[in-house]
Amino acid sequence: MAAPIAIFRRFTFTKNKSNILLLSRRLFGNSQNQFKEISPFTTNHAWTIDEEIKEQIIKEEMNARRHTGSYFSQPKALPKSLRYSLETVIESFGNADIDKLSKDMNNLISSRKVPLEKDEILEILQEIENEVMEQEKMSPEHLQSLDDRKREKHLHYMRNKIMNIARKRSYRWKEIEYTLAKALAYAKSRLHFEYSCLSRIFFEMKKRDENFRPQTLFDFGSGVGSVMWACNDMWPKSIFEHFCVEKSSSMIELADLLLRDGNEAKERCFKNVNFKSYMPKDVKGGFDICVSSFSLLHLTSREERLSTLNQLWKLTDEYLVLVENGNLNGFKVINEARDFILNMSKIDQDQGGYVYSPCPHDLGCPRMKHYAKPLCPFSISYRKQLETPVENKKFCYLIMKKGKRRPEDVEWPRLMDSVKNPPRQAVCHMCTASGELQTAVITKAKHGKTLYHCVRNGRSGDLLPMVPAENTKKEP
Ligand SMILES: C[S@@+](CC[C@H](N)C(=O)[O-])C[C@H]1O[C@@H](n2cnc3c(N)ncnc32)[C@H](O)[C@@H]1O
Repeated sequence: MAAPIAIFRRFTFTKNKSNILLLSRRLFGNSQNQFKEISPFTTNHAWTIDEEIKEQIIKEEMNARRHTGSYFSQPKALPKSLRYSLETVIESFGNADIDKLSKDMNNLISSRKVPLEKDEILEILQEIENEVMEQEKMSPEHLQSLDDRKREKHLHYMRNKIMNIARKRSYRWKEIEYTLAKALAYAKSRLHFEYSCLSRIFFEMKKRDENFRPQTLFDFGSGVGSVMWACNDMWPKSIFEHFCVEKSSSMIELADLLLRDGNEAKERCFKNVNFKSYMPKDVKGGFDICVSSFSLLHLTSREERLSTLNQLWKLTDEYLVLVENGNLNGFKVINEARDFILNMSKIDQDQGGYVYSPCPHDLGCPRMKHYAKPLCPFSISYRKQLETPVENKKFCYLIMKKGKRRPEDVEWPRLMDSVKNPPRQAVCHMCTASGELQTAVITKAKHGKTLYHCVRNGRSGDLLPMVPAENTKKEP
């Protein structure tokens, strides 16, 4: 026992900070190491450039900064005619009213959470009941020992207390009833952001799958129609059938007006647009692209989300695209959908499919393994008006493709963060085809100048055109 007292005397009564630090390290170990969060990124520098990409860059058929895996584009504005229609409808409604409502709508949608399931509610109630019993110094035995009248009084008091605490603590999911004013406010506050997310996602699909030209589109929770606009902008004059399922008649009214320059007497700018208020029972498959954009958190329960996904996947011939907010709740429903569809694919051969983006693998999400609050967000920049500043927001997304993974579906690592560039190095944090989070430091000397140039300008969300080194020859 003598030694610790000596250490205590020697260090605590001097004012020397470093001595105190030394003492605490001796007594408790190096706290910095002890409590530092262990990074889930393992280090692997053994990468080499994809041979095909290297050849194209050397032959100057491709730019190293704008290779097949790079998806950066300048902040997007809405198509001119959509901007014009939106302004016309808002003006006819009264700008001031919509301005005020649009902030509330944006907050409501951005902070939307997953509705609690029955078992989760019961668990929360049980937890609170235990707390209240303890606070009130009450036990089941004590309750039993009271006469009926006193017991009933006590139970009534505690039930009220539990419910009051539960109301404060838990999120109360509520269906949003869209009026025309709310739909307009929604469009004003969210359309630019949602349109930009969709454009970024469709841009990746177009760049990676040059032969894909969708002719039929299915949009679940179609709202004001951002999916239709973004899809037609990416593949002009390609889609001849638009099937939009939308519960709210006000949303349908607004989406339709936007297609007609804000004037119901005018023709729609896209061909064959069908609005339906419920999922069709009689339509069986046949859509090149199915989309649910910011709609899964509008569904009342896990059961409703999964049954909707089941129908959407069955309606999909080629690609199913899901988009949500880039927060914990958005990611939760996206990852739930990913697991559900991958499971469905395993069980039913006819419904087989794989993850096309963002994950370069069909394994479990490594973020779910390593983080208490897992999230895989991507960032998008957009401008509401030509003269207004660029805004940034996060989104989560998933693209599932029907069928078996094809040889041309590259399994390059996906950048989870923009590349850091200390002198002569490119440091990348990636999600890889082996289902792991990895860090790589790419240098000209070790990996060759072509790969180095490709990687240096990488931005979060890009694919890096490289493969594990043992699979291919090294660049001389
Ligand atoms: C946040 S908005 C998404 C809007 C849309 N994707 C867009 O880009 O404008 C969600 C939409 O889903 C619709 N919705 C909610 N539950 C639905 C259901 N069961 N069937 C069809 N639409 C639904 C809502 O009315 C709302 O318009």
